[in-house]
Amino acid sequence: MNVADNTQNSASQPLDERVNNRSQRPSSDAFKAFMASNWAPSNQELPARDAVADFAATRRAAISAKFPGERLVIPAGPLKVRSNDCDYRFRPHSAFAHLTGLGLDHEPDAVLILDPVAEGMGDGGAHHSATLYFRPLAGRDTEQFYADSRSGEFWIGARPTLAEFEAKLGLPTAHIDGLETAITKNVGATEIGGTSVRLVRKVDENIDALVDTVRYNTAKDPDTLDLAVLDALDEKLSEALSELRLIKDSWEIEQMEIAVAATVEGFEEVVKSLPRALTHVRGERVIEGAFFARAREAGNELGYDTIAAAGNNATVLHWTRNTGTVSAGELLLLDAGVEADSLYTADVTRTLPVNGTFNEVQRKIYQAVLDSADAGFAAAQPGTKFRDIHTAATTVLAERLDSWGLLPVSVEEAISPEGQQHRRWMPHGTSHHLGLDVHDCAQAKRELYLDGILEEGMVFTIEPGLYFKSEDLAIPEEYRGIGVRIEDDILMTANGPVNLSAGLPREATEIEDWMAGIFQAADAGK
Ligand code: GLY
Ligand code: MN
Ligand code: MN
Repeated sequence: MNVADNTQNSASQPLDERVNNRSQRPSSDAFKAFMASNWAPSNQELPARDAVADFAATRRAAISAKFPGERLVIPAGPLKVRSNDCDYRFRPHSAFAHLTGLGLDHEPDAVLILDPVAEGMGDGGAHHSATLYFRPLAGRDTEQFYADSRSGEFWIGARPTLAEFEAKLGLPTAHIDGLETAITKNVGATEIGGTSVRLVRKVDENIDALVDTVRYNTAKDPDTLDLAVLDALDEKLSEALSELRLIKDSWEIEQMEIAVAATVEGFEEVVKSLPRALTHVRGERVIEGAFFARAREAGNELGYDTIAAAGNNATVLHWTRNTGTVSAGELLLLDAGVEADSLYTADVTRTLPVNGTFNEVQRKIYQAVLDSADAGFAAAQPGTKFRDIHTAATTVLAERLDSWGLLPVSVEEAISPEGQQHRRWMPHGTSHHLGLDVHDCAQAKRELYLDGILEEGMVFTIEPGLYFKSEDLAIPEEYRGIGVRIEDDILMTANGPVNLSAGLPREATEIEDWMAGIFQAADAGK
């Protein structure tokens, strides 16, 4: 895959050009002329406006209202190299996806710019006009068409034209060649008629450098430029974009339902794969693969690496190596989520008895976690605090651990801030926001997150667990090697929490019945 001519073969050839040495692209004028000729016309039909377009416009208007008079720069990010000339699958930054409505693999190097305009003159009466800069599809008469392995149609297929994205997103578009000017024009002190600029940093280092340079070049006194002050300006933009996502609109809720529905199907596929997993030296990989197949068929990807953890591996909170065996009599903790084409992701955990039946001690521990989750659901009401979910869920766990004789102190002492001994067996938080990112809204202020109030339109997890490691000498032997987590995806409504992942059973007996049904159907189909 090469872009540059590979006519050099001396030892002085720069190393980063040598990736092109495995082939040589013809460069004669005759070849170029032939490649540029005799192609059928491209499809000229413009796509319909996406349902997301109006929602994205409303989101842009909300962020516009917070930063009147300032240029806002929101990059999608570049392709990331995996090794040599192989890139990772592209995923745009979530703030970019949120404000443009673009999902799937669109669009490396693109940048959304919200340019300040006179009050009320922007899109939908906002303080900004929006333009999406990106590299549009190159014509078949260009070298890019057949010679550019990262963006040429011959290599990766047709990509959008400016007109196509404009029609689909309801958003003015412009060629990426105009990006530098669009970011830097008139930047300078506002007292002298300049425009200040805020950037979502650490997404595209080329854009970071461009903004740093223009700020430096236009500073009244570059020697006293305070980078910390400028970083704080940028951080406020990232914070506002993160907080904008705390409440999901109806289109986003639909996307969450799509992601969760595909995830439920993925869990069913995993149960079907259990007989094979039992026979495989890396049974956990069989499970991971079964879920991944569904994620790619039904959506874009996984929202995060699947945790397929059997036996004692289930006590490792983020066990994603998935190299272990799966044995009858063990529990399997499966924490997995399909990311929809829109990039919204589910995040669901079920703990399943590999052979279809919980034993007594497994059932006892499972029930404690289920009771804890139910207490979390009961605490989650519009108007209560986000942190109340965790308090309610962990108090149930502390009480249960105490009743089993495991707490070295009283329940009161354990749940006090100075104690927390129960957290030895449940060291993670109980809830996080969910959406475009599995840990969504991560830059929101604490007072809007952990100390925030639950509101209609929020989507979050409830996911208590108990993790009894095989090396834990503070517990009886029969508990060792058992890890249980139950994780559901919750939509807060005016009438209370709705469990989006209720399509998967939660009660131990319901799980056994559900698994038996899948095993029987598979047997009948043999
Ligand atoms: N799957 C990661 C989490 O549950 O937060
Ligand atoms: Mn989670
Ligand atoms: Mn999870």
